[in-house]
Amino acid sequence: MRLDKLLEQEKIGSKRKVKALIRSKQVTVDGQVIIVENQNVDAALQEIFVGNQKIQQATHVYYMLNKPAGVVSAVSDSEHQTVIDLIDKNHRRKGLYPIGRLDRDTEGLLLITDNGQLGYQLLLPHKKVTKRYEVVVNERLTEADCEAFKKGIIFTGGKKCKPAELTIISAQENQSRAYLDITEGKFHQVKKMFLAVGKKVIYLKRLSMGPISLDETLAVGHYRSLNQDELQALLPYFTTHKKEKSVDHEI
Ligand code: URA
Repeated sequence: MRLDKLLEQEKIGSKRKVKALIRSKQVTVDGQVIIVENQNVDAALQEIFVGNQKIQQATHVYYMLNKPAGVVSAVSDSEHQTVIDLIDKNHRRKGLYPIGRLDRDTEGLLLITDNGQLGYQLLLPHKKVTKRYEVVVNERLTEADCEAFKKGIIFTGGKKCKPAELTIISAQENQSRAYLDITEGKFHQVKKMFLAVGKKVIYLKRLSMGPISLDETLAVGHYRSLNQDELQALLPYFTTHKKEKSVDHEI
């Protein structure tokens, strides 16, 4: 959020007063005097003072959910339980939504927030955010499959995927386990990639998204707030660059 907007929102003063405070060098961010009124700041991640008054913004919430199978990645659904239903009523906020979608039968990491900007940035195709999945398929995976993923899988129908990294953990005649790292988010992407090499996904779990890895101690169906280290790691995705039109300027 812009520094001047934050100070207005936190009732430090009128627009004019806030401008005057910033220009007269009374505002610091992480100990540094800031005179740029529209600088993007985040009171959850930075220490902001006006004189000796610390600004405690009513901040956004950021949760990591270990999504169970059977639950849909949506805000509301007439038929199925949603990932938002798994969030305790006391922790729910207006505008809470999951960043990206996992299929109903997929488990694992899902970030949930009320910060529209973060989701927008993490899902921008050119940011090429890596998502790691653990996959179990119904056939033997081979080095030829790894090569095909590296070259770029072509879906039935001709759509080409970006190069992906397949790491085989175990391979047997009727079941194999692997990690797959992809940098896109096409609909049913992982399942379709494996179908393109003639294998059916029988279990799928997301392990990481960009710098955030699923907390192994988080039981399936449980969630927790992101910690300070995780929020710091996400900092590059809180920024809007000039050419990136934002859907939501709230930071
Ligand atoms: N790819 C899929 O096929 N399903 C998911 O849930 C996520 C990625």
